[in-house]
Amino acid sequence: MSFPDTRPRRTRQTDLWRRMVRETRLTSDALIYPLFVVAGEGVRHPVSSMPGISQLSIDEAVKDARAVADAGVPAVLLFAAPEEKDAHASAALAAHGLAARAISAIKSACPGLLVWADVCLCGATDHGHCGHVLPGGAIDNDSSIETLAQVALNYARAGADAVAPSDMMDGRVQAIRRVLDRNGFAMTPIVAYAAKYASSFYGPFREAAESAPAFGDRRSYQMDPANAREAVREVLLDIEEGADLVMVKPAGPYLDIIRRVRAAVQVPVVAYQVSGEFSLIKAAAERGWIDERAAVLETLTGIQRAGADLIITYFAPEAARWLRA
Ligand code: PBG
Repeated sequence: MSFPDTRPRRTRQTDLWRRMVRETRLTSDALIYPLFVVAGEGVRHPVSSMPGISQLSIDEAVKDARAVADAGVPAVLLFAAPEEKDAHASAALAAHGLAARAISAIKSACPGLLVWADVCLCGATDHGHCGHVLPGGAIDNDSSIETLAQVALNYARAGADAVAPSDMMDGRVQAIRRVLDRNGFAMTPIVAYAAKYASSFYGPFREAAESAPAFGDRRSYQMDPANAREAVREVLLDIEEGADLVMVKPAGPYLDIIRRVRAAVQVPVVAYQVSGEFSLIKAAAERGWIDERAAVLETLTGIQRAGADLIITYFAPEAARWLRA
């Protein structure tokens, strides 16, 4: 059968028809909101490259966490930018470090909100790399994963509902799983940043997380944007090591990767709509060049249509309100 017998427009005629035949249904249950925590009290320091996003002291982060939960967003992803940075990421390892205190403060104020803790060294190291730096500047994989596992344990002890390693070292999911299990946290899930690309879209985030590398770049650990098969390999390795959820990051420019990963695995797939993707939309909307609400919902729908079950996005609270309205 073909035209004029076939007319796809028949089921597109009215809103009621379009709603009934819709294939992808975005809901707020799928959204995770990133929060950036800094030292101090009453601090709400706007991130200039991310309109509407601020670095927050713990007391302010608790307020935002409440608002996010009230909007219907089920989880936040916590990043900390401690003041004291050193070669060992000591602030991330401290039992009462900034991230640990933020996790317990948010958990006690909002028990109904899941707190995912980003596990990385870059916000707490003076060199801004995601692992330990060897003399000469190379990143040492095996000592880094030991430290990352201790950081993850620290966050689990503070009450994190999940730990999310974003460093892209080899074997870190296994190292984290072992340390968590040995210390009574067998039930803490690992959300692995499994296919994380060395992307130019992280620029605004690095201002927010104070995590720009002091020298070089992250291409010796994050993935080459040109590679797709390698993403499937990374994801399968992380699942073998014990990852409960796997992530593709960034989202928009990597929809084919989301699609491939969805087809290759049985665990939930998370996509991270990163800072640069957020800021592009914000900047164009501020100039009146696009309709922000429509553009945001279209990108999130596209990410879900590609195969993501969950989406980390700086638009989470707004999107949740729009989806409810
Ligand atoms: C740090 C980390 C980054 C992001 C999440 N965790 C930046 C990077 O790897 O340089 C990016 C998030 C964003 O851009 O929104 N390991």
